[in-house]
Amino acid sequence: MDKLIITGGNRLDGEIRISGAKNSALPILAATLLADGPVTICNLPHLHDITTMIELFGRMGVQPVVDERLNVEVDPRSISSLVAPYELVKTMRASILVLGPMVAHFGYAEVALPGGCAIGTRPVDLHIRGLEAMGAQIEVEAGYIKARAPEGGLRGGHIFFDTVTVTGTENILMAATLAKGRTVIENAAREPEVVDLAHCLIAMGANIKGHGTDTIVVEGVERLGAARHSVMPDRIETGTYLVAAAATRGRVKLKDTDESILEAVLLKLEEAGAQIDTGKNWISLDMKGNRPKAINLRTAPYPAFPTDMQAQFVAMNAVAEGTGTVIETVFENRFMHCQEMNRMGAQILVEGNTSIITGVERLKGAPVMATDLRASASLVIAGLVAEGDTLVDRIYHIDRGYECIEEKLQSLGAIIRRVPA
Ligand code: UD1
Repeated sequence: MDKLIITGGNRLDGEIRISGAKNSALPILAATLLADGPVTICNLPHLHDITTMIELFGRMGVQPVVDERLNVEVDPRSISSLVAPYELVKTMRASILVLGPMVAHFGYAEVALPGGCAIGTRPVDLHIRGLEAMGAQIEVEAGYIKARAPEGGLRGGHIFFDTVTVTGTENILMAATLAKGRTVIENAAREPEVVDLAHCLIAMGANIKGHGTDTIVVEGVERLGAARHSVMPDRIETGTYLVAAAATRGRVKLKDTDESILEAVLLKLEEAGAQIDTGKNWISLDMKGNRPKAINLRTAPYPAFPTDMQAQFVAMNAVAEGTGTVIETVFENRFMHCQEMNRMGAQILVEGNTSIITGVERLKGAPVMATDLRASASLVIAGLVAEGDTLVDRIYHIDRGYECIEEKLQSLGAIIRRVPA
C-alpha cells in the first residue's frame, strides 16, 4: 500500500488548477445509462472512484470511450448485464447510483448492498423507499438489492425524504426522468452536484424544475438522448487547498473553480483571518503570514457547512490561535482523524458528535493512518504544519478523491512524496 511522507514547515504559496468534481462526475456517469445514444462527459477528474465506475460499466457490457482530450463517451445501448457486483460496490458506495437509472431504463437492476463504512452505518433505505413509491418491486436478497419496474415502467410518485440525502435525491431524480407522469421530491438535497446532474439530464432531454431547491419536480419523458456535459469544479478539493494554505499561513490561487458554491467555507476562512479574493473562475487566499484563528462550525446539508470539509478545518484548528468547537450532524462517526492528530501533538477532545480543539503552536510529525477520504486530506494538512516527517498510511483513500495531490502540493512548495508499497 502506498504511503505519503510529508516534511512539514513550508508555507504553501502558488497557483494550481482545480479538477472536476468527483461527487458530480459519479452521478453524471450513472445518468448516461438513461440515454438511448452516446453521452460525452468533459472535465472528469482522474480518480480511483471514476475508474471504479468505468470498471463497473465494463462489467455491465458498456465500454466508455476516452478521447485524446480525456473526454469520456458512454453509449449504454450495448448493456448486457443489469448487475452491479459486490466486489466493486464494496470499494465504492456511490455505485448505488446505477440503481435508479437501470430500473428506469431497463426495467430491472441488481445492485450489491453497500456495507457499513468508516464514518457510520450509512443505510440506503431512502433510495429503496423512493423507488418503491414509483412502483418498483424491491427485494433485498443475499446481499443484493433486486429492483424490478412494474409492467409499463416506473410511474411518477410523491417522495418525501425524512433525512436530506444527496445520492438518494440523485437516484430518484434520475429514475424520475423516464417515469410515467410527474414526480415530486420533497426535502431534496440542494447540493450543487445535484444541480449539475440536473443540468446534464436536461441536456439529455429531461424535464426538471426546482433543482437547487428542496422541492424538485420532474415530468417524465419517453426517452433521453445524446448530449455533452462538462462536470462542475470540485468544491471540496477547492476548500481543501484553501484550508491547507490557511493552516500553513500561506497563500494560494485556485483556478477553474467557482466561489458561489463555497460560501459557507469561505466565510469560515475569513473568520480564521484569511483574505479571500475571487474573480471569474478563480479564488485566492492570503494569510499574510499570520496564524489562523480557531473557528467554530457545525456541519449540515447544503448550503450550510459541508461535512466533507469538517476534517480539514479540524486540522487547521489544531494549529490555530484559541479553541474551536466542531459539531458533526450529518454522519455519526466522523472524528477518526482527531485521534490520529492527537498522536501528532494536537489537543482535541471528542465527545459524541462534538470535537473541541485547542490550537497548539506546532504539531509534531508522526506515522498516522487515513481512515476515509476526507480524513486523509486532513492528515496531509496536519503533516504540512507539523515539525519533521509525517507518514500517512492507507492513502488509497486519498486517491479516491484527490487528483494528483502530491504534484499539486509540490507545486505550491510542499515537501511531499509518495512511497510505493
Ligand atoms: C454524499 C457524498 C459524500 C458526502 C455526503 C453528505 C457522493 C458520492 N457522496 O454521500 O461525499 O459526505 O453526501 O454531504 O455524493 N441516510 C439514510 N438513509 C439513506 C441515505 C442516507 O439514513 O437511504 C443518511 C446517512 O446515513 C447520513 C445522511 O443520511 O447520515 C446523509 O447521507 P447522504 O447525503 O445520503 O450521503 P451520500 O449521498 O452517501
